[in-house]
Amino acid sequence: MRVRTQVAIIGAGPAGLMLSHLLHRHGIESVVLECRSREEIEGTIRAGVLEFGTTRLMTALDLGARMEREGHVHDGIELRVNGRRFKVDFQELVGKTITVYAQHEVIKDLVAARMAQGGPILFEVADVALHDVDSHHPRVTCRVAGSDEVYELECDFIAGCDGYHGPSRQHIPASARNEYHKVYPYGWLGILAEAPPSSPILIYSHHAGGFALVSTRSPEIQRLYLQVDRDEDIRNWSDDRIWTELHRRTAADGWRLIDGPIIQKSIVGMRSFVCDPMQYGRLFLAGDAAHIVPPTGAKGLNLAVGDVQVLARGIVAYYREGRTDLLASYSATCLDRVWRAERFSWYMTMMLHRHPNQAEFDYRIQLAELAHVMHSRHAAAALAECYTDLSTEPLESVL
Ligand code: APR
Ligand code: PHB
Repeated sequence: MRVRTQVAIIGAGPAGLMLSHLLHRHGIESVVLECRSREEIEGTIRAGVLEFGTTRLMTALDLGARMEREGHVHDGIELRVNGRRFKVDFQELVGKTITVYAQHEVIKDLVAARMAQGGPILFEVADVALHDVDSHHPRVTCRVAGSDEVYELECDFIAGCDGYHGPSRQHIPASARNEYHKVYPYGWLGILAEAPPSSPILIYSHHAGGFALVSTRSPEIQRLYLQVDRDEDIRNWSDDRIWTELHRRTAADGWRLIDGPIIQKSIVGMRSFVCDPMQYGRLFLAGDAAHIVPPTGAKGLNLAVGDVQVLARGIVAYYREGRTDLLASYSATCLDRVWRAERFSWYMTMMLHRHPNQAEFDYRIQLAELAHVMHSRHAAAALAECYTDLSTEPLESVL
């Protein structure tokens, strides 16, 4: 079957779905091709911090109703260092807040709204392949669920929103592509627990035994993380061991972590990655397909949303005014923000984790880095500015 659209979008993560919404708003057609099922993408547990600009965009696109009801607005984060507590007060320092609302809830809202508009989002497609990306007539082929027939999508542009492992990035020839990698020697063991919130804001705890993070999901479910070795086996972590370690690493006078039954647990490794450029011919990479950040800076989803704002703006200018300059500068525009997010995520990661075989000198410097944030209003404000909003596109530019 041969189908024609303006923009073929590979991947129904935050990048692909948000792009389809932004284009629809400007009357531009797209088809989203997703290899997993709707249930799977709506059930995968990921992070959950939305920057100031991301929440404003959701609201402006009429996608924010449930986020406004069920998400939690936080006016800061707490840094905890061996039991000592310090609030980085975002509202007071930079006049902004963040919203804690799980990524899979964002996915549910974006999918439902897009389906209500008629989509199309094709789930469970197989053998997705990109063709002629450096011509004016790129194509994507795949097999649609339940059919052996090849589905061929002719388009003007391909948006590669297919995550780190997707096929899109490989279509930028290796000779035209630089990849920058950093792998950290630790991972995060993340749990969901049936318990009420222990804190009204997130707690990032530096501890001699390793980093811990207290986050939240709902009045009944909490999200917590522990630094573990990168190749740690989850089977070594009984529920008892997890709670003992969480209590130890977050302990502070006058505060107590509320525990409860653990309903989900997994370990993810931590890495930083950037692909430069993010564009080749008529192929544009967005989100995790082009860059990965360690979760300590809570930037992953926001970076994906930032990319597709730039891309949508370029595509709209192309169809409306025949302009190609914004598309030509897509990669450079995004990479400026991406590297600043990489820097911030690296900074938070390096400041908060215990590094294996860390020299005593480096450990003291790490404590001084944290003390600097606690003592200097300027340092705290710099952290607050990066944490709450690294977006560069004015909201009006995509509405
Ligand atoms: N064909 C079709 N779809 C694919 C293919 C393929 N060959 N390979 C991957 N995909 C889909 C995945 O199943 C996934 O649903 O692409 C989607 C990519 O979504 P995400 O991984 O969520 O990436 P992105 O939209 O860039 O959002 C980045 O997700 O991983 C988190 O921390 C990250 O918060 C960040 C956000
Ligand atoms: C989360 O709630 O999953 C979360 C919060 C903050 C982070 C990372 C993850 O830095």
